[in-house]
Amino acid sequence: MAKQWKKYLLWFAQEHIDFRIAEIESLISLFKIEMRYAHKPQLEPYWIVEFSSEGDAKLLTTRSVSLRNCVELWGHETSTAALHTNLREKCEMFAPYFNPNKTFKIEVETFGRHFTQKEKVDKLETFDYLPIKGNVKLTDPDLCLQYIEYYGTRASCPPLLPYEVFFGRCVAYGLRQLMKKLSLKTRKFIGNTSMDPQLSLLMANQAKVKNGDIILDPFVGSGSLLVAAAEFGAYVYGSDIDYLMLHGKTKPSRIRQEKRAKDESIRANMKQYNLEHKYLDVLIHDFATIFWKDCMEFDAIITDPPYGIRESTEKIGTEKDSFTVSEEHLSTHYPAKIEYGIPSIYRDLIIFSAKHLKIGGRLVCWFPLLREDYNEKALPSHPCLKLLANGEQVLSKVTSRRLLTFEKTRHPVKEELNLDNIAIQDFREKYFEIREETRKERRLKEAATRKENWEKYARSKNSVEGR
Ligand SMILES: C[S@@+](CC[C@H](N)C(=O)[O-])C[C@H]1O[C@@H](n2cnc3c(N)ncnc32)[C@H](O)[C@@H]1O
Repeated sequence: MAKQWKKYLLWFAQEHIDFRIAEIESLISLFKIEMRYAHKPQLEPYWIVEFSSEGDAKLLTTRSVSLRNCVELWGHETSTAALHTNLREKCEMFAPYFNPNKTFKIEVETFGRHFTQKEKVDKLETFDYLPIKGNVKLTDPDLCLQYIEYYGTRASCPPLLPYEVFFGRCVAYGLRQLMKKLSLKTRKFIGNTSMDPQLSLLMANQAKVKNGDIILDPFVGSGSLLVAAAEFGAYVYGSDIDYLMLHGKTKPSRIRQEKRAKDESIRANMKQYNLEHKYLDVLIHDFATIFWKDCMEFDAIITDPPYGIRESTEKIGTEKDSFTVSEEHLSTHYPAKIEYGIPSIYRDLIIFSAKHLKIGGRLVCWFPLLREDYNEKALPSHPCLKLLANGEQVLSKVTSRRLLTFEKTRHPVKEELNLDNIAIQDFREKYFEIREETRKERRLKEAATRKENWEKYARSKNSVEGR
């Protein structure tokens, strides 16, 4: 039998727009979902797509962070009048949903223009011709219908009438609730650079994490990326050079917290979310040194390496020539550290991933850069890793970080594990140069303003005294 394709509206949260396509395409590939685009996705908060099975629509939506919900489209027009005419004509088609024993609600949503609750209720009442027979139930009804008016993305000067209107049956909701559950505000153990749940879950989705996978974060910090991967069923490992961090002994990151609680740790976070059974371990480990056996393979590596701005980029080592520790000091010796520059970190990460990922496994990581320096050639690369996605999160006027998703396509040959020619820019060095220049400029500007104010004051004083 030929497949029956139906139209659906994918309704997105208007955040992290640059990562939408990568997330949705990763999930489509993970679940082997068949989805057709009815029009090419643009910057609007909605896509119109087609699925041949509602199960696919549900599978995709319930795993997505970017999606708010998915609606089976019963009507889509450029005016409310046309929508009502169309719905009145097609009403009978939807009769199977209008069961007297089923509860329902109609949600009214407007994008790009604010309406009061009263105005929304008035809009809702314009659908009173629909032969819905059940009782209204606002929480968890059997049938949820949704009416959306779209006024464009220029919220400061929206048009009087909507550009597009949509009506349909809501089939599934995205993961916005899970983001609340995993909020850093209520998490037991956090650090200064803990990744927020939305981005952590998004990274896990781009890594195509599935039940039973083994995942590693080699710059684990407070373990936020492990929480997200474990939520999707993965077993998780982490490692970090910072002993105090992994033992929950660093200064507290919450403003009003004076001392860390005794039991703050990544394991405690896992316990908090009932994920302890997914926690394999965390290791105190310098990523610049070899720890894992050659044969160890991961389904995905998900990580946010240090940029050297809010945390140091260091590895174990010394600048001194032929340095040895005497036998008597060996047991209490605390190794010295040297600079671990961004080019070396990413070179190590990319080679490690080429070696330790399964074929088809993914590396998902952030890469910081100065926006003016960006071009695809400035990104880390490896012959065994295919770059699949590369979205930008703007951090300031001049800096951003890019969320890179690589997939391993083949095992490396020996020479590919020692590539010296991977050219990666040193963001940190340039960042501090620019910051110094900006500060200098600001100091000069402030001095000039002070001088100007003083001269103004002196002139006004002279003119008063001269009267
Ligand atoms: C941006 S933070 C990661 C934050 C983490 N995603 C979280 O949610 O808490 C980078 C981490 O890399 C660690 N790090 C720095 N140099 C390292 C090295 N040589 N080996 C392993 N970890 C290192 C730092 O201690 C820091 O915890």
